[in-house]
Amino acid sequence: MKLLILAALVSVCAADKIVGGDEAAKDQFPFIVHLDSKTVQAFCDGSIIDEYWIISAAHCYQSGNSNKAVAGDFYLQADDSSTDGSQNRLIEKFIKHGAYNSRTLENDIMLIRLVEPFTMGAFISPIALPTETPPAGTETDISGWGNTLSSGTNYPDELRFVTLPVLSRITCNKPSSYNGEVLESMLCIGDMSGGQDSCQGDSGGPVTLMNSNVLVGIVSWGYGCAQPNYPGIYTDVYHYVESGWITTTMNNN
Ligand code: ARG
Repeated sequence: MKLLILAALVSVCAADKIVGGDEAAKDQFPFIVHLDSKTVQAFCDGSIIDEYWIISAAHCYQSGNSNKAVAGDFYLQADDSSTDGSQNRLIEKFIKHGAYNSRTLENDIMLIRLVEPFTMGAFISPIALPTETPPAGTETDISGWGNTLSSGTNYPDELRFVTLPVLSRITCNKPSSYNGEVLESMLCIGDMSGGQDSCQGDSGGPVTLMNSNVLVGIVSWGYGCAQPNYPGIYTDVYHYVESGWITTTMNNN
C-alpha cells in the first residue's frame, strides 16, 4: 500500500516538470540566448558561436516573417548581479539551411548574424562546435526557457536544464516510436519511459556534452513532450560541421 502511494507521488512529480528539470546556475550555460521579437511571435533559443553569430533552428524563422523578424531582437539572459548584465542585440539576418524541409524537419538549422556584437564575459561566452556525432549512451545537457509542463503551459523565468543520454536511431525509429522519421542528420535524446524532455519554447537551443560547452544538438521536434516512447529529436550539429555548411555560411556572410 505504502509503495503504491509512493509510486503515485513519484509519477505526479515527474509529470509536473517535463524538463524533469533543474534550475541552471547563473554561469552554467553562458552561451545560450533567448530569441524574442517585438513584432512577431518568435519564441526560441539559440547559442553563441562568436560575438556576431548565433546558431539556432530553421523552424524558429517562419517564412513570410522575414522582414518583420529583422526588426526583432535577441535577449541574452545573464546574471543581473554580474557586471555583464543582460545584453540585447538586433538581428541583421537569418540564414536558414537551404535544404530545410518544414514537413520532415530535415536540416533544421539556422545561423543568425547580429548587427552589433555581443560583449563576452563570465556569463556570456561562446559555445564550441563538435568534433564527432555523439554515440548512443553519451550524456548531454539540454537547456532552455521552454514549457515545463507535458500538458498545459508554464514558461519559467529562470533557465532550466535536464541531463539525458543519446539513444540509438534504431531504438527511436521502432514502429512503436518514431517509425523511421528520425533521419540520418538527427539525434534522438531522452528517456523511452518519458518524464524528462525538452518542450515548446526550447527550440533552437543547445544540447551540449554534459558539463561542457561542446554543442552537439539543436532542439528541433518531438511528439508532445516527455511522452513514453517519444523522446526529443535534435539536429545533429556535427553533420553540418562535416559538410562545411556552418563555416562556409559564416565566411560568406
Ligand atoms: N518544436 C518545439 C519548439 O518549437 C520543440 C519541441 C521539442 N519537443 C520535444 N518533445 N523534445 O519549441
